[in-house]
Amino acid sequence: MKLVGDKVYLQSPKVADAERILVIINDQKVRPMLGIKNQPKRNLQDERKWIRRQATRRRLKEAFNLLIIEKETDKIVGMCGLHYDKYHKKADIGISIAPKFWNKKYGREAITMLLCCCFKKLELDLVIAQAYDFNDRSKSLLDALGFNHDATLRKCCLKKDGSRCSLNHFSITKEEHKSKCSDIVKEAECQQ
Ligand SMILES: CC(C)(COP(=O)(O)OP(=O)(O)OC[C@H]1O[C@@H](n2cnc3c(N)ncnc32)[C@H](O)[C@@H]1OP(=O)(O)O)[C@@H](O)C(=O)NCCC(=O)NCCS
Repeated sequence: MKLVGDKVYLQSPKVADAERILVIINDQKVRPMLGIKNQPKRNLQDERKWIRRQATRRRLKEAFNLLIIEKETDKIVGMCGLHYDKYHKKADIGISIAPKFWNKKYGREAITMLLCCCFKKLELDLVIAQAYDFNDRSKSLLDALGFNHDATLRKCCLKKDGSRCSLNHFSITKEEHKSKCSDIVKEAECQQ
């Protein structure tokens, strides 16, 4: 699977990409945003296993995860992906970009491509995203992309210092998205 944008392209991970993915997912600025700060860090074996599982999950029409690759350099800058539910025609999306590459609009472009894939190729009705209260960058990105802030799950997560934080639930419907989907996707082969 490959989705091509102006600044980045999205492509299925290969086992050889495990090391680079590991660096991003274990980054100390990324981990809190994903709610995994207190969990043990992933290792190379976990990562390779996770990559191998992706092909099965795609075949079962459950999920797919894609690398975000900078067009100019062909460097892996992050990952994004979705779990989808074909019966309820909805998906949950997630994204992680290495801090060095934040604020270059890569996140915006990657999510734009994922949304086009969800609504145009997978023909889903709803896409959901979640962001912790302290994740201003993610909240502002989802807002800019036309997501609706549905709810705040109050103090639902426990932090290491014993304090609690809230999780924001965002969503965008097929109708809301229709007017916003740009022609950014030049090549989209979402397997169904
Ligand atoms: C969230 C994330 C994917 C955004 O990716 P990115 O490539 O930096 O995003 P973009 O450059 O496309 O857009 C970032 C937006 O946040 C805004 N922003 C940057 N810093 C901000 C801050 N401190 N507060 C509020 N908004 C901020 C930018 O202005 C930009 O908005 P704009 O396009 O309207 O100007 C990336 O920061 C990331 O991977 N973070 C760690 C993991 C994570 O949070 N994942 C999401 C969990 S839901």
